[in-house]
Amino acid sequence: MAAKTKNTVPASAPSSGLTKWAFRALLLAAVYVICSILDGIKERWYVLDPTSLNVLAKSAIAANPGNPAGMIEHIVSNLTQTYDSSVIRFNTDSSEWVFNNAGGAMGAMYIIHASITEYLIIFGTPLGTEGHSGIHTADDYFNILVGEQWAFRPGALEMERYLPGDVHHLPRGVVKQYKMHEGCFALEYARGWIPLMLPFGYADALTSTLDFPTLFWTSYNTGREMILNLLRGKI
Ligand SMILES: *[C@@H]1O[C@H](CO)[C@@H](O)[C@H](O)[C@H]1NC(C)=O
Repeated sequence: MAAKTKNTVPASAPSSGLTKWAFRALLLAAVYVICSILDGIKERWYVLDPTSLNVLAKSAIAANPGNPAGMIEHIVSNLTQTYDSSVIRFNTDSSEWVFNNAGGAMGAMYIIHASITEYLIIFGTPLGTEGHSGIHTADDYFNILVGEQWAFRPGALEMERYLPGDVHHLPRGVVKQYKMHEGCFALEYARGWIPLMLPFGYADALTSTLDFPTLFWTSYNTGREMILNLLRGKI
């Protein structure tokens, strides 16, 4: 009886199943190799750098004490003079603010630059906010302009504290709880594969706020900046 049951299984099944798995494994290996190569070469497209952005943030603070609008003006006008507009595009419309809900934190942002491998935004809120940093495929440099930011990682029993002029570097893959205490604005620079960060930026809107106009303008502004940069050859 047992032998008869065995015979009902098509003879080709084990080998075709094996072929399917071999094909999947090969596909996965190919995707892994392509991702590794892309990850290895991403640096060639960086135009901005964290060190000079921190120097710029500090000079903006020094020139405009307690005046975040003046600091933003200072930063944007410096960037447009420092970098050739044929190499990188900056969005100079500093009235273009949208809400941003991510990781439970809420604030507003103004996108100064967005491309496939870099973004530069002003993010903050006069009210203060708190949340999860998100787990990112990019390195994040958070330059405090006004207020202060607190952060901690599990295992730390005391908080990290960042004041105006300080930069809070969140290396890719690192997660923290953070708080922008009693109102804070920062110049946030991220470098890495930016499109992979977008799901984190959308999750709260899709599952909680359902603020579709904000979602629309966030996508519109980001997409416009990425495309206008691509047209200059800025990946
Ligand atoms: C931009 O800011 C940097 C850092 O403060 C400064 O060294 C540079 O001279 C500024 N450039 C312009 C064009 O203002």
